[in-house]
Formats: sequence, structure tokens, C-alpha cells
Amino acid sequence: MKLRSLLFVPADSERKFAKADGIGADALILDLEDSVAPGRKAFARGAVKDLLGGGPRNWSFLVRINPFGTGLTLEDLAAVVRPGLDGLLIPKVNGIEDVDLVSHYVDVLEVATGIPPGDVKLLVVATETPAAMIGFNGYARKNERLVAMTWGAEDLSAALGALTNKEADGNWTFPYQVARAQCLFAAGAAGVAALDTLYADFRDQDGLAESCRLARRDGFVGRVAIHPAQVATINTCFTPSDADLAHARRVVAAFAAAPDVGTVGIDGKMYDIPHLVAARRTLASVGEGHSNG
Ligand code: COA
Ligand code: MG
Repeated sequence: MKLRSLLFVPADSERKFAKADGIGADALILDLEDSVAPGRKAFARGAVKDLLGGGPRNWSFLVRINPFGTGLTLEDLAAVVRPGLDGLLIPKVNGIEDVDLVSHYVDVLEVATGIPPGDVKLLVVATETPAAMIGFNGYARKNERLVAMTWGAEDLSAALGALTNKEADGNWTFPYQVARAQCLFAAGAAGVAALDTLYADFRDQDGLAESCRLARRDGFVGRVAIHPAQVATINTCFTPSDADLAHARRVVAAFAAAPDVGTVGIDGKMYDIPHLVAARRTLASVGEGHSNG
């Protein structure tokens, strides 16, 4: 599943879905959670059901369900785990146990609806509760369905009673920098994609591009979007440039030409095995070569 850009669409908005389809996002996340008012949950589930029955698509169909504790999770799962669904985004998880629990429910629903076992993938918003922030260890033992982790600051700061999660200059305050970094580390330990959180100011393309540059620098491979205008910028920022690809090919070629050494020099700089791993990863992200180091 390609996961550079994932656009949230409130599941009860037919108008927004029509706009989002064809916008170029790798995935649409039909949201049943916070962007849908309590009185509209049943309607939104029905809308997702109808859309899943629609024609062929060139994007992955994801649904964000309501979290445990709301009393809505099982009804969401029963409604949306059906042919056509590619994955579920689980918000407000406290750790891998919540992933395992959803995974078990999905095991049964796949059988009931004729989906090949294991086809429905899981993604999590990994930092939205204080308990999640002290419960990252479990991700290292992996869940087969888990393909990506993202993080969020708003629900965490609300749960903590923080007055803000941003400095005056717009940067995250320290606790949320920790959350962002923990998401990266946990995704790395689980061997799944790390996706950066949303960029709320959807009119600020330059700010979004710079924020994506920093995310990619740090190891995030994609990002969630809240507005169609953000998708193209995210796709561009998380796609290696021609120069990136050319450099990666040079690194791979230099090691291929010297199979008996662990270190090579290119243009007066030392490259060793971690650089080779990174170069292969860059090429693999565009379907070139293989990514194992
Ligand atoms: N998906 C699809 N279409 C969207 C969209 C989205 N996420 N966000 C905006 N649009 C559409 C609008 O409907 C509008 O189309 P229209 O003129 O045909 O009605 C167009 O894009 C321009 O929208 P704009 O006026 O710039 O924004 P807005 O004020 O209508 O909406 C938000 C702002 C934040 C409410 C909206 O972007 C949104 O709903 N985002 C997703 C929220 C969400 O799912 N949150 C959950 C994750 S945190
Ligand atoms: Mg939220």
C-alpha cells in the first residue's frame, strides 16, 4: 500500500468525497470519528458502506473508526469491514494491545464477509492518550496487519490539560516533540511506515512544504492531509527528487563495484553500510532495486 499522502474526508459529506476522489491522494481516510457529529455516526457508517460498493479506484480506501471507550467501535467495524476496504485507522490507541484486539475482530469479519484473511490492514494514531505515551514497548513485537503509525498532538494536549502544544514561533512544545519522535521510533521498531501528523493551516503551502521537508529528513515517509490543497505538496515532498535518485544509484553502484569492502569514497566523502541501506530504501520507494540492506 502506497502511503505518501492520506486525505481525511468526513464520512458523512458526499460533497467532500466527490471532491477528494481523483485529487491524487494515495489513500482517502473516510472519517467516522471526530469530524462526524454524534448524531451523524449512523448516517456516516451507511455512507461508507455504499462507497465501498462503488467502482474501481486508484487510491486505498481507509476508514478511521471510533476508539474503544466510545461504545461505537464494534458497530463501526461491523459496518465497514467488507469487500473494498483496504485498511482501518485506529485513533486514541493505548498501545499494541488495542491493535491486537481490533485485529482479532477483523479476523472474524473477514471470514464473515468473504475477504481473504489478513487483507485489511491497520494503521494507528499512536500518541493521542497519555497511556499511549508510556506504552510504546509492545510495538516491537509487531502485529501482522499493522502497516503504518502516525501521531497527533491535539487529543494528547487536551487529555493532559495543556494550554497549548505550540511555541510562539509555531514549533511543537517539548512534550509534542517527544510524541513525534516516539512515533518514529515505534514505527521503526515495528518495521512499519511512519506518517507525520496533519498540518492544520491548510492555506499555508510554504509552511506545509517546509514541515514536510523536516519530516522526510527525520524518517517519515508520508503525511496525513485535511484539505485537498495539501495533497500535491505532500506527494512532491515525499517523492525522491531526480538528484536524490541519481545520488542513491551512485552509492549502490559504488558498493556493487567494491563487493569486498564496507566503506567507499564518493566525491571525497565516506559512505558505509548505513548509507547503502538509505540509498536502497530511496530506490525501493520508487520501485527500483530492493530495500533490504
Ligand atoms: N476532503 C474533500 N474535500 C474537501 C476537504 C476534504 N478534506 N476539505 C475541503 N474540501 C472541499 C470543500 O468542500 C470545498 O469544496 P466546495 O467549494 O465544493 O464545497 C473546497 O474543498 C474548498 O474548501 P475550503 O473552503 O477551503 O475549506 P472549508 O472551510 O470548506 O473546510 C475543513 C475546512 C477543515 C472543515 C475541511 O477541510 C475538512 O473537513 N477537512 C477534513 C476534516 C477531517 O476529516 N478531520 C479529521 C482528521 S483531523
Ligand atoms: Mg482527534
